[in-house]
Order: sequence, then structure tokens, then C-alpha cells
Amino acid sequence: KSVFILNGPNLNALGKREPGIYGGKTLADIEADCRETASALGLAVEFRQSNHEGDLVDWIHEAGDKAAGVVINAGAYTHTSIAIHDAIRAVSPLPVVEVHLSNIHARESFRHVSMIAPVAVGMICGFGPHSYTLALQALAARL
Ligand code: DQA
Repeated sequence: KSVFILNGPNLNALGKREPGIYGGKTLADIEADCRETASALGLAVEFRQSNHEGDLVDWIHEAGDKAAGVVINAGAYTHTSIAIHDAIRAVSPLPVVEVHLSNIHARESFRHVSMIAPVAVGMICGFGPHSYTLALQALAARL
């Protein structure tokens, strides 16, 4: 079984999107970092991005059948999506780790609430691309 690494809206624009906040790495760079860490941990990864909420819901359902766990950066849907919250509940007890590049608690108050955190095993934020590799390590230790 593999680990699904799911990315939500606007993360396809990493590298050129608010580099002062999100850094200069592209999503392809982050995918390469994840593949390197995953192979060292003996994990196979499925790395995806979509700007559409329903794709993320569909992929969580698919992960429920096929994956050992999920790492998710749902972007702004983190703060709004009851549908993603419900999808994670629907695949329980599949372990889901929430990640963010930025420290969402040090930013605008509308980013302080996460719909995903209550249904995740844990959340890692604020470490840039490193948040993803830390999440993979946390998931591997749990599997
Ligand atoms: C983000 C934080 C969210 O608040 C924001 O909407 C994003 C990226 C992060 O990785 O820091 O799109 O999830």
C-alpha cells in the first residue's frame, strides 16, 4: 500500500505564489523531496494536486480503499471544507496527517481554524517544504 500526498488549491502555483510566505520551491520540487524521503522510509507515494474540492473528496475515498495513510495540504479548503472533514471521517481509521508550509496560527485569524485538524492524527505546519517530509516520517512511525 502507498501513502497518498494530496494537495489542494493554488499549490500548483508554488514557486511564484507569495514566495515570502511559501518559499521558492515549486510543487514538483516538494514532490521530489517527498519521493526521496518516502523511498528512504520504504514507502510508495501517490502525489496529487487539484484546485477542485470534489477531487480531494474523491481522492480521500480512493485512499480509503488503496492507501496506508494520507498526507494532506488542503490549502484554503482547510479552513472551510466540511466535505473534506466528512470524507476523512468516512475512511476512518485511515491515518491522515495535515500539513501546511506556513504557520497558519501566526497568520490571519481566518486561517486559525482547521476543519481537518479534528479528524487528523496530527498536524505539522510552519516548516515550509519540510512540513511534508516530517509528516511522512510521522506517518511511517505510525504504520
Ligand atoms: C497553506 C495555508 C492556507 O491557509 C493557504 O490557504 C494555502 C496554503 C500552507 O501550506 O501554508 O493555500 O495550506
